[in-house]
Amino acid sequence: MSPYTSTVSNALTNAALFERAQKVMPGGVNSPVRSFRSVGGTPYFVANAEGPWVWDTEGKRYLDYVMSYGPCILGHANPNIVDAVSVAAGQGTSYGAPTEREVLMAEEMCSRVPGMEMMRLVSSGTEAAMSAVRLARGATGRDVIVKFAGNYHGHSDNLLAAGGSGIANQGLSGCDGVPAGAVADTIVAPYNVVPELDSSVAAVAVEPVAANMGVVAPGEGFLRDLRAACDDVGAMLLFDEVITGFRLARGGATEYFGVQPDVWCFGKVIGGGLPVGAYGASREIMGSVAPLGGVYQGGTLSGNPLATAAGLAALEQLDASAYSTLEHLATRLGDGLETAFRSAGIDVVCPRVGSLLGIFFTDVAPTNFDEAQAAVEGDRYKTFFHGMLERGIALAPGPYEMIFVSTVHTDELIDMTIAAAAEVAGEMAAG
Ligand SMILES: Cc1ncc(COP(=O)(O)O)c(C=O)c1O
Repeated sequence: MSPYTSTVSNALTNAALFERAQKVMPGGVNSPVRSFRSVGGTPYFVANAEGPWVWDTEGKRYLDYVMSYGPCILGHANPNIVDAVSVAAGQGTSYGAPTEREVLMAEEMCSRVPGMEMMRLVSSGTEAAMSAVRLARGATGRDVIVKFAGNYHGHSDNLLAAGGSGIANQGLSGCDGVPAGAVADTIVAPYNVVPELDSSVAAVAVEPVAANMGVVAPGEGFLRDLRAACDDVGAMLLFDEVITGFRLARGGATEYFGVQPDVWCFGKVIGGGLPVGAYGASREIMGSVAPLGGVYQGGTLSGNPLATAAGLAALEQLDASAYSTLEHLATRLGDGLETAFRSAGIDVVCPRVGSLLGIFFTDVAPTNFDEAQAAVEGDRYKTFFHGMLERGIALAPGPYEMIFVSTVHTDELIDMTIAAAAEVAGEMAAG
């Protein structure tokens, strides 16, 4: 199938589907940010996708910068992933017994991430972060977890405090249904400031590059100093690499920044678009996980044969040239967007770390959640989002998300995006 044609020919409209969806699913969606609540309007319902494109149910094509919020780093329907999943599906979809592909996946991931010796596959980033926290608590015998405001670590109870991404997009600081006791041992600190720690702290969880409050770069030395602060009190440093993992570099943020945590969690990219997460650590720390140790964690679908087939096919393609392509494209896009808006007299910054790219309609890049929240006030992102969507370019429907490029976003497509942004900038400047 050519990426320039649509196979969709049904008459379903987005509006009709959204109306039906809202009757049977909260907000009409299975994850809140998809509901368009923070930008307004009717979500497009995807019918199919290929390469950098998605088509909605009305047959309209969009150049996609959502990319499933990260997993589709090689574009949609990557042929190797599709083949691998098809073959795997013919061999059975789940066994409840170990497989060779799980071993290959663990070997590949451990060989890429400096210091990670063992890992366990789970089915989402939430599960990975939740399990990593349990591991840190179990291995240290301590309870307190320190996290940073605006960092998102999934929706498990004890990490749902001052979270970024969907929770921030919905204007929430916490979450109904989470008992006070569940977050009693969670301390929230401002990002980019090394917190005071003591010997009650089991772990400090951090997004090495914050990517759920827009993209906020770690300040010079922040991760290194955090490492030292953890060492001083015997706390574990937990890198949540669900976004940065295998995106920032072959070995993720650990390789990129040269700072090694004690515990990692991963998701997104490692599933090639299927539901996968993972957490890992040194052999010694992972010795605490059942059946070796007393930290229980399991999963009926963990290490699922389709998911590992997709993940392996994705990782195989993520070589040095893929990373330089991603970084080149993100740089071209970020620079182009800044030029387009500044030429129209509109303040904008596009923070970028490697291929992680964000956009804020402000003049100085935020360094923490307070600044990020101040930067997204007003309707500028909403206007930008709809202006781009009208021009067939799909960004995430919320100001706290990244702009996800993939290896199949070409220079030509990036330039087309910048030209569309220049038109939108002109409209915004004209008021
Ligand atoms: C840094 C980070 N950690 C954890 C998660 C949770 O992952 P999932 O949505 O797969 O449960 C996300 C999701 O966006 C994330 O960005």
